[in-house]
Amino acid sequence: MTHSYPVNMSLTPEVKAFFDPATWTISYVVKDPDSKSCAVVDSVMDIDYAAGHISYESADEIIAYIKAQDLKLEWLLETHVHADHLSGAPYIQSKLGGKIGIGENITMVQDVFGKVFNEGTEFQRDGSQFDRLFKDGDTYKIGGMECFTMHTPGHTPACMTHTVGNATFTGDTLFMPDGGSARADFPGGDAATLYDSIQKVLALPDDMRLFMCHDYGPNGRDIEWETTVGAEKEHNIHVGAGKTKEDFVKFREARDAQLEMPRLIIPSLQVNMRGGELPPADKDGKTFLKVPVNGLK
Ligand SMILES: [Fe+2]
Repeated sequence: MTHSYPVNMSLTPEVKAFFDPATWTISYVVKDPDSKSCAVVDSVMDIDYAAGHISYESADEIIAYIKAQDLKLEWLLETHVHADHLSGAPYIQSKLGGKIGIGENITMVQDVFGKVFNEGTEFQRDGSQFDRLFKDGDTYKIGGMECFTMHTPGHTPACMTHTVGNATFTGDTLFMPDGGSARADFPGGDAATLYDSIQKVLALPDDMRLFMCHDYGPNGRDIEWETTVGAEKEHNIHVGAGKTKEDFVKFREARDAQLEMPRLIIPSLQVNMRGGELPPADKDGKTFLKVPVNGLK
């Protein structure tokens, strides 16, 4: 299968992973081997939801790593509006600079959840909370590295996969081969669309390195986050080894019907649809998150 994306397998960026055990999220620092430039992919802001307490240990670890190596942070990339953790991007940006980027269909996500949370007109639904809205096939640079995006909807409508040389960050479009794929039942999600998006990723060269956004250590194995296109094609339990789109859609829809809502979906959506910012404070300077009663299911 051919594609028109500007793949450059001769470029090997340095990739450092940070695993957050509270949300099973893997964040990354991806660095240009020939300069000090780097990007952060899918950072985490910590929340003790029961206590309503926000903190920044996870983000501080990434900040310390970047500072220790004297790196220049150019991008904070969000593969999508996460429903299971809060983004740490604005906090890291406030300390280190860089531009926050997400897929242009963030506007669809903002529309849907702006309604769910009954946000007033002050909540802009035009993606203006982000510095860059990526379209399919857009290119950008991290130092001297030419990077490109692929629009990979299905898990959510705004999902983007980012490729930097021989490293591809799939967000939740794929899990490790023994983890399969992410759910496709959130508003704007669709299993058939997810299957087609996964095929776009699997059309990349077999030795393309793939970096996951989540891993749950299925069957008791240790947490892993790196695989290849070739390994996914051969072994992915949901889409590998010639599984058909029909098989996938049937399986995915049946599985999704059984899944509980993610533990942090309510705070995550309210924060992440704002580019990782908390809702505006009230007139007394206090900040609240809402719980929409019967609004999500
Ligand atoms: Fe997700």
